[in-house]
Amino acid sequence: MCGIVAYVGPREATEVLLEGLRRLEYRGYDSAGVAVMNGSGISVRKAVGRLSALEHELAGNALHGGLGIGHTRWATHGAPSVANSHPHISYDGKVGVIHNGIVENYRELKNELLAQGVTFKSDTDTEVVAHLVAREFRGDLKAALAGVLKRLRGAYALALCHVDQPDRVVATRMGSPLVVGLGDGENFIASDVPALLKYTRRVIFLDEGQIAEITRDGVHLYDRELREVKGKEVRTSLTLEAAEKEGYEHFMLKEIHEQPHAIAETIRGRVTDERVDLSELGLDPAVLKGVRRIAVVACGTSLYSGMVGKYLIEHFTKLPTETWSASEFRYADPVIDPSLLVIAVSQSGETADTLEALRICKQRGARTLAVCNVMGSSIPRTVDATLYTRAGPEIGVASTKAYTTQLAAFALLAVGLGRMLGTADAADEARIVRGLEALPAQVKALLTDDIVAVKRCAKRYKDVFNFMYIGRHYNYPTAMEGALKLKEISYIHAEGYAGGEMKHGPLALVEDTFPTIAIAPRGRTREKMVSNVQEVKARKGVVVIVSTHGDEEARELADYLIEIPDCEEELSPILAIVPLQLLAYYTATQLGRDVDKPRNLAKSVTVE
Ligand code: G6P
Repeated sequence: MCGIVAYVGPREATEVLLEGLRRLEYRGYDSAGVAVMNGSGISVRKAVGRLSALEHELAGNALHGGLGIGHTRWATHGAPSVANSHPHISYDGKVGVIHNGIVENYRELKNELLAQGVTFKSDTDTEVVAHLVAREFRGDLKAALAGVLKRLRGAYALALCHVDQPDRVVATRMGSPLVVGLGDGENFIASDVPALLKYTRRVIFLDEGQIAEITRDGVHLYDRELREVKGKEVRTSLTLEAAEKEGYEHFMLKEIHEQPHAIAETIRGRVTDERVDLSELGLDPAVLKGVRRIAVVACGTSLYSGMVGKYLIEHFTKLPTETWSASEFRYADPVIDPSLLVIAVSQSGETADTLEALRICKQRGARTLAVCNVMGSSIPRTVDATLYTRAGPEIGVASTKAYTTQLAAFALLAVGLGRMLGTADAADEARIVRGLEALPAQVKALLTDDIVAVKRCAKRYKDVFNFMYIGRHYNYPTAMEGALKLKEISYIHAEGYAGGEMKHGPLALVEDTFPTIAIAPRGRTREKMVSNVQEVKARKGVVVIVSTHGDEEARELADYLIEIPDCEEELSPILAIVPLQLLAYYTATQLGRDVDKPRNLAKSVTVE
């Protein structure tokens, strides 16, 4: 979390930095700051809260200069305050630093510096880097940084400037993302590509441990021993338009409405003549036949798509499949050997826990795959092969289109793997392919038809304190994801539960003010879900049912009915989540919440 951006060139650096930070605010928005070199030293402006507070500060107190570094913060060490905001400046006023990540051994380093008489201005882990680099500087900033890196433990993307080398920014990464933007007579550094799109589409994704030195006229890359290395320039296919709200009130609403297109993109070229084609992954059938178990690792919303993925994969491959929260996997001592295939799921490709779980698996010889949305991010660069979700940039902190495209990707992957292993039946494959092809139009219809019902429901229940979401089998994860959406953006407590477990505890909560959202589309568990609804109704509970069009029994039972089009049971989570995303959205907007930037959260979690 935290977003960093740096610029060297003929423009006013603050303008470039603010534009970049605007695109990176999804990474954290506790505070923001910029530092600009102006011939006489480093000048800094910082403000607590959203970027607009920093813009306001700069409006009254502008900074001029063509080299600068900027930061938007998600607090880890030290509360959100002006003192703890980045950039941090060294004790001699010569080094400016911005940081995304955590310096794990900062206490030890801080104590050492304190003993040497250095005074600290903040509670952050980052400030030690500024002071250490100042101590180490002998005329070459990259050499000073390389020296300090030998002492740092943890994850970081860092960018630094020094008063005595006023023409350059030096940056490095280890465990946190960083991209170099290549311009004409100007160059850039950023945590993520959208920050650069207004100026350039030519980028180099920095490798772990590499150091970049940028001036107006050039970019040089080095390894940790300062040997010059060559970076691979790529032309990003992302566009600025894709990173704009385009008339929608919030990114989240725009992204919900982009789902038909995003799903169509995700299956494009991967299904033909009722067959799934995953040849792009380059999987070796012989290697695949050696796989005995599969583990899906992920966090947050990606974890719930992984739970659906488990059901799909087990059904089509007959291989035992586990789903793991990546933060649990790392410390649970799981059995990892070369017969294990690990599938990491991640929108950003940068989630620290998921990345670390993957690294452990790789070290112990497991095969690795990823389902990921961001090209060139760390997770795809770590695994053997990646199935990209092609959802386009997702800016809203609450994940929507990334989730439904992950579900579509899992359907492709499960069927594709099943075919390679000879465990998927051709008729089943054709049925899923037809189902996938129908989805974009079905999601579109859902977005047009059912919004009124969802809005009414949001208005009716926005003031309750608790919600229960229940589902079974493929839609048990839908219950978890629906509840997550509501709690993260409306701050109403919501729980996702397996329908069959209600009677083992949660039924005690049911009373006439307690709404239960039952996800009960056509399929193997529908009848059982109807029984669970009856049990809630018998206790005078309020029930919202998400059911397949034309389910008359559901209509009679429900206090509110939300209908989804008929589809293959395995794909029903893709349709069922859409009204639940909207329910969360309309509840949150009616409560006046900041939908795209919910309190205390960030989109990209690059710390453990
Ligand atoms: C954060 C985001 C979630 C996301 C999770 C995992 O918590 O707010 O929306 O699901 O991280 O992120 P990933 O990028 O790995 O999917």
